[in-house]
Amino acid sequence: MDGATTPTAAPVLILLGPPGAGKGTQARMLEAAHGMVQLSTGDLLRAAVAAGTEVGKQAKAVMEAGGLVSDALVIAILRDRLAEPDCARGVILDGFPRTTVQAEALDTLLGEMGQRIDAAISLEVDDAAMVKRISGRFTCGACGEGYHDTFKPTITAGVCDKCGSTEMKRRTDDNAETVAQRLKAYHAQTGPLVAYYEDKGSLSRIDAMAPIEDVATALNVVVSEAIA
Ligand code: AP5
Repeated sequence: MDGATTPTAAPVLILLGPPGAGKGTQARMLEAAHGMVQLSTGDLLRAAVAAGTEVGKQAKAVMEAGGLVSDALVIAILRDRLAEPDCARGVILDGFPRTTVQAEALDTLLGEMGQRIDAAISLEVDDAAMVKRISGRFTCGACGEGYHDTFKPTITAGVCDKCGSTEMKRRTDDNAETVAQRLKAYHAQTGPLVAYYEDKGSLSRIDAMAPIEDVATALNVVVSEAIA
């Protein structure tokens, strides 16, 4: 582990993994189990696109093409989000960092805040299964709960198990062509971060090809040890 921290510093976890690895699914489960805040740069960017902000306008075309939004823009939105009061409960970073520049910026930012990374967890999956996972994904438009046509259907068709809403959404970048580009971007720009955190002694690997509940159990063991 690197960097200094105070005994009261809030936990910081990173979930690494390609599109469809289950970062969002597991981050929401960890949030419920450990009281930390899921911080997804993908969700923040989609909200900016939906709101038509300047950030959203800059990010939209890149996201639709399956590329990575510029480091400067993503680091800025992450910095702002980390400064919000709820992050004092600890954060689960889902989809950030995605480049070495972002990882180094995060180290600097956390250092300034007297915090450090407690664990970087790599969700290990086969690319071949990811297109199937992503093409079957949908989420509740009201509460954000994630589902899958085959692997995690709602109990009652079209009704969110968690909040009862019938407003289900599918992402515009969840098509085979864009997923292929997202996987390429992952291997070229984000994959090297596994070695980055391994070198720092903060990396754990989880077999994320297992069923959702089994991945959650394995992840809980790692997280409980990391934040103990
Ligand atoms: P982002 O929203 O982060 O998307 P992503 O990384 O491509 O990841 P996904 O959300 O697709 O997958 P996930 O791992 O969360 O899987 P999920 O849990 O949903 O980023 C979108 C875009 O924003 C990027 O392409 C980029 O343009 C931009 N962006 C974001 N962050 C950026 C950054 N830091 N820098 C630059 N650009 C950035 O699971 C998928 C499905 O599989 C679900 O239906 C789920 O139910 C199911 N499932 C989950 N686990 C399992 C399992 N174990 N078995 C079976 N099914 C499972």
